[in-house]
Formats: sequence, C-alpha cells, structure tokens
Amino acid sequence: PDKLKVALLGCGVVGTQVARLLTEQADDLGARVGAPLDLVGVAVRDLSVPREGVDPALLTTNAEALVAGADVVVEVMGGIEPARSLILRAIEHGASVVTANKALLAQDGPTLYAAADAAGVDLYFEAAVAGAIPIVRPVRESLAGDTVRRVLGIVNGTTNYVLDRMATDGLDLDQAVKEAQALGYAEADPTADVEGFDAAAKAAILASLAFHTRVSIDDVQREGITSLTADDVAWAAGTGHVIKLLAIAERNTADDGTEGIQVRVHPALVPADHPLAGVHGAFNAVFVEAEAAGELMFYGRGAGGAPTASAILGDVVSVARHRVLGGRGPVESSYADLPVLPAAAA
Ligand code: HSE
Repeated sequence: PDKLKVALLGCGVVGTQVARLLTEQADDLGARVGAPLDLVGVAVRDLSVPREGVDPALLTTNAEALVAGADVVVEVMGGIEPARSLILRAIEHGASVVTANKALLAQDGPTLYAAADAAGVDLYFEAAVAGAIPIVRPVRESLAGDTVRRVLGIVNGTTNYVLDRMATDGLDLDQAVKEAQALGYAEADPTADVEGFDAAAKAAILASLAFHTRVSIDDVQREGITSLTADDVAWAAGTGHVIKLLAIAERNTADDGTEGIQVRVHPALVPADHPLAGVHGAFNAVFVEAEAAGELMFYGRGAGGAPTASAILGDVVSVARHRVLGGRGPVESSYADLPVLPAAAA
C-alpha cells in the first residue's frame, strides 16, 4: 500500500519524542500498520529553537499547508487555538487525527467528535489522560458494554511529584514545581497543574467516556494544591495519611431523585495503606468501578515526553491501520442524557 503521510503539530517535550520515535521506529511501525509511515513535516512556532533528534528540514511554520496534505495529523501543541482550528481543518481534509490536547477536548470535545463523525475519520486521544497509561481505550471501548459507577484517580503527575517532594524533603511548593518543570512533567504554565485545571480536564474527558455523556471542564468542581504547605503534608503523615490530588467522577442521585453524575478534583487525605498512597513521583493511577467488571486499576507514568509519546504512537498505529484496512474506531456521537449534578445536590 501507499505511504501514509504523518504531520506533527508541535515539537515541545512530547512532540520531540514523537518525532524521534516515528523516525527511529519507522520500519517496525510500518510493518505493524501494513504501510510505511512517512513523517512529512513538523509545525512549530519558532524555527530557531533547537530540537534534538529532529531533522531541521522537517520543520515548518506553515501548519495549515502541512495539515492539508496529511493522512494522519498528530496534534501536540496544546492550548485551544490554533490547535482547534487545525484539527477541524485536518478532519475536513479527511485526515485521521491523534491529539494529546486535554484542555481542548475538555472544553470543546463534542465539536471535534461531531466533526470526525461527520467526516468518517478517527479521532484518538489516549495521551490526553494519564500519559502512558492505557485508560482512554479501556473506558471508551473495553468497558463500553458495562456500567461504570465510579472513576477515581491521580491524573496529574506534576502535583503528585510536588506533594511527594513536600512530604519527603519538606520542599516548598515553588521549589518542587521548578523541579517538575525541569523534568518535563509540568504544563507550559504550571498554574494548570497546581490549580487543578489539568486534572479537571482529564476528569471531564474520563467522565464523558465512562458515563456516555457530555462533561466539560466547567462542570468539574475544582480545588488545586496551592494552599497546601509542607506543614500540612507533614501533619497528614503524622495521622497516617498521604495528601493526594484526586479526580473523582461518580454516579449519584440528587435529593429530588434525579440520577446524574458528579465530577470533582481536590486534595484528599488517603490512608497510608491505600494503593493510591503508594503512587509516587510523576506516576498516575486510575481506579474504575464497574457493575459487571468490578474494580480495575490502571497504573503507570502519567507525564513526561517519552511516556506520553508512547500513547501517541499507539494511536498513530491504530488510526493508520484503519486507513489501510478500512473501518474506524469508536465514535462519540451517541450520548446518554445523564446530567451533571450540582455540588450541593449529591
Ligand atoms: N502536566 C501534566 C502532568 C502532563 O503533570 O500530569 C501530563 O498531562
């Protein structure tokens, strides 16, 4: 079969690793897909920034032109615009899309899902939630025949790393955040991490998939970790607890009997012997409770260039294989009418 042209939008911590793996593993990936994958260009804002391991000849500032000629578009630029317009443009052109953009999906996922559905192309986003951990596919596909009751997890590596450093070495928040930035875990603006926006976006995406409904980041009750001090963390340890930033999405019934879901992100006291207490550094973990399956736990690296790139490459192989064989992955076009309950109602 013909080569599949892959366009990469963004070349930061994650994009650099995606470009590297696409190039280094080209033969293996092509064999798994059934057609060669050809990285045809990498759209960046600034050509002068050095990007280790990425062929400078691939770099371009013309993202629109790159998207127009691609079979598979991988978006790792983050943020709402221009990512949103470029993804919609890619879908219009009939390209399959792989994105790691949790903020965009949590704000405007339904628009993207509807566009992909109308165009008959794949929209995959395994890397948008919990980095390397396969959690989107299990919730979107493997559990599609079950009834999910609750999703509970540590889905932000930066805050988990920061809370760990505060607990083990008494670091203050700012020092620990600087370390997380240096390690490539934090968002470009780490406010998104420490104020809980990143976890809230992931909670919204997981809740939408788990409950077949529409949950936007605005529906998520959110409290970050910025008011926590090293003393709070030490106090928690003295009582046999660990403070973790948890994302919680669950079915609930309001006082008036309305069935719905509730989604929230906040620091929580986790007993030291609970499995979530043992999730350290930039690792993430997600628990899912489903009626027939019972309890499931997913664990792994939730942040960092290479782990996140792993999830993206898996998506690239899936959508590329669909192009070769025909057919598509799951669509998000049908939703149950399950309301998000207000905080006080549950
Ligand atoms: N800043 C995010 C985190 C990266 O710390 O988890 C992965 O989404």
